[in-house]
Amino acid sequence: MEVIEIKEIYSKNKSEFLYYIGSDDHYGGEDFDMPSWKRYHNEAADRNAMIFKLGDQIGAIVPGDPRFTFETLISELRVDDMVNVLQDKQFEMWKPYADYIGGMGIGNHEATFIKYHKVNPLLSVIEKLNNVRSKKLKPIAYLDYCGFIRITYESKAGGSRRPYIIAYHHGAGGNAPVTLGIIKAQHMVSGLENTDLLALGHVHKNLSIRAPNRLYLNQHGKIVNKEMRIVITGTHQRSLKESGNRNLKWSEAMGYFAAPFGGVFLKNKIIYVGNKPVIDTRIEH
Ligand SMILES: [Fe+2]
Repeated sequence: MEVIEIKEIYSKNKSEFLYYIGSDDHYGGEDFDMPSWKRYHNEAADRNAMIFKLGDQIGAIVPGDPRFTFETLISELRVDDMVNVLQDKQFEMWKPYADYIGGMGIGNHEATFIKYHKVNPLLSVIEKLNNVRSKKLKPIAYLDYCGFIRITYESKAGGSRRPYIIAYHHGAGGNAPVTLGIIKAQHMVSGLENTDLLALGHVHKNLSIRAPNRLYLNQHGKIVNKEMRIVITGTHQRSLKESGNRNLKWSEAMGYFAAPFGGVFLKNKIIYVGNKPVIDTRIEH
């Protein structure tokens, strides 16, 4: 679990802040979909969004894993030093976006590298990206499997500070074809306090919901009716193979059809209610 602190300065001229939250790219698998990956991440960069990735950026199945066959890998990775090649490829892919990435975490696929090869493939990718990232920016954070991102919006004029707290987790469990991951998300939400957003990946669904507001008494005895949101981010893995391809396809065999591509954009705007600054949140898919 990691805790990441982000500071944003707001003013009359700069009151809107955008974040892109994604997961489950599944790069390295033969079914990784580069066009949709570029579409979402180019949009994030074009709109100056800070990018957070919640794991399974790498989807390659490693030798040793019972699901492994060579056909599950892109041809460049069918080599004995596949972990090194994978890290180089990931670095090249992310390099144009290095200045936009706030943090990257791991999922169950990166965890298989730790399990079978005793290496966390993400660490050297982040290190290399930090070497080419603008020195004016904070280094890209390692998000691990789960944790909190606290974004503090500070008034340029001074005085006001507003926190926005994201709890994130790569996700866990099965594909959730009917409930779309909501049961797991509700389970996690019930154990969270004082959080604005829970962000999850893993199930290859793409949705956001307004969870029931959190109701509590603050330290001054005032009733607070706090908004709470849940987002689940999609994938860049094609779940169906081309006609004529006779290799085994896990998602087809399991009946996991047509997973949605891409993550979500989180837009936070500082607005004034009376003379009090508050964070107004919107989610885009
Ligand atoms: Fe996953």
